[in-house]
Amino acid sequence: MPDVRTFVLVTDRPDRSAAIVTALREIGICDVVGPEETWRDRQELAGVVSDLTLSRPEADHCLRSLKRHLAGRNLPVICLLRRASQDALRHAKSLGATVCMPAYVPPETVAAALANQVGIIAGGAERAVVQGVARAGEALNGLLAEARAGQPVRMGAVEAGLGPILTAVQEGGLARWLDTVWTHDDATYQHCLLVAGLSAQFALHLGFRHDDQFRFVRAALIHDVGKARIPLEILNKPGRLDAGEMAVMRTHAAIGHAVLLAGGETDAMTLSVVRHHHEMLDGSGYPDGLSGDAIGDMVRLLTICDIYAALTERRPYKKPMPMADAMAILAGMDGKLEARLVQSFGEAMAATG
Ligand SMILES: [Fe+2]
Ligand SMILES: [Fe+2]
Repeated sequence: MPDVRTFVLVTDRPDRSAAIVTALREIGICDVVGPEETWRDRQELAGVVSDLTLSRPEADHCLRSLKRHLAGRNLPVICLLRRASQDALRHAKSLGATVCMPAYVPPETVAAALANQVGIIAGGAERAVVQGVARAGEALNGLLAEARAGQPVRMGAVEAGLGPILTAVQEGGLARWLDTVWTHDDATYQHCLLVAGLSAQFALHLGFRHDDQFRFVRAALIHDVGKARIPLEILNKPGRLDAGEMAVMRTHAAIGHAVLLAGGETDAMTLSVVRHHHEMLDGSGYPDGLSGDAIGDMVRLLTICDIYAALTERRPYKKPMPMADAMAILAGMDGKLEARLVQSFGEAMAATG
């Protein structure tokens, strides 16, 4: 008999739970309970999705009780956060949340994240995306860990993550890729995977040759490897950086370039993308203040993907910027970015489902 898993959706607004239940029933049995659930007879549970207002005492009590009854089980608990704040995120983690997502994410993404946590292979397009994010994420984490530890980076390990990114974006669509990546808490991880997905879509849209698609996505995935050497209190600071912190942050481009050189990287385009992705056509960028023709085409393309990813990143504690607003900001950067390429990027984004 196939192994059917049982999930529980615990919610205090059952009127809005139908769509989540439908998505969860794609991956197993789903019971819907309220915050009065005691969890006493739930030893067979495979995972929980909480759609509770965590500031309410009954929600807090309910999730503490879940944690107590299923202690030591490593049970996936996905918390949908209704309030966007760092405190809400910390509170949810303290109550046993293994993944936190803003409450507005599509139900299919919640189900895909849960499926991923319990090791279920989801169907077709979802599977391509969940696997693509997992493989690319592994490759990226390995690279960042080596760079952080001051070890030579092994680019061979990164190659394994590139095919799955292109497959995921082609088969699952960029929108699914973005929805999945946006749920990740770690800012650098989320950012690099966003840029990689956007670059894959851009390369496919521009009709790059197969090997050029790989080279471009490879450069995109690793473009911020230098951030592995930036102190976490600066890297993950929620508010604006002061001038001193900004100066430290800006060193990541030259550091990344040095890290790759030390690791034996020889591809000139990749080295250029990593060092120059913050240069602007009018010479106002860093680290070298390059302008005009000194900035190569691939760097220009990557810079557009990079800025778009930064504008549209999602953190549980802030409101996301609508994609149209991000495109308007890019279009307003005429003189810094190549207008023709920004337009082409907009077409690539519009072409995605
Ligand atoms: Fe960067
Ligand atoms: Fe970046």
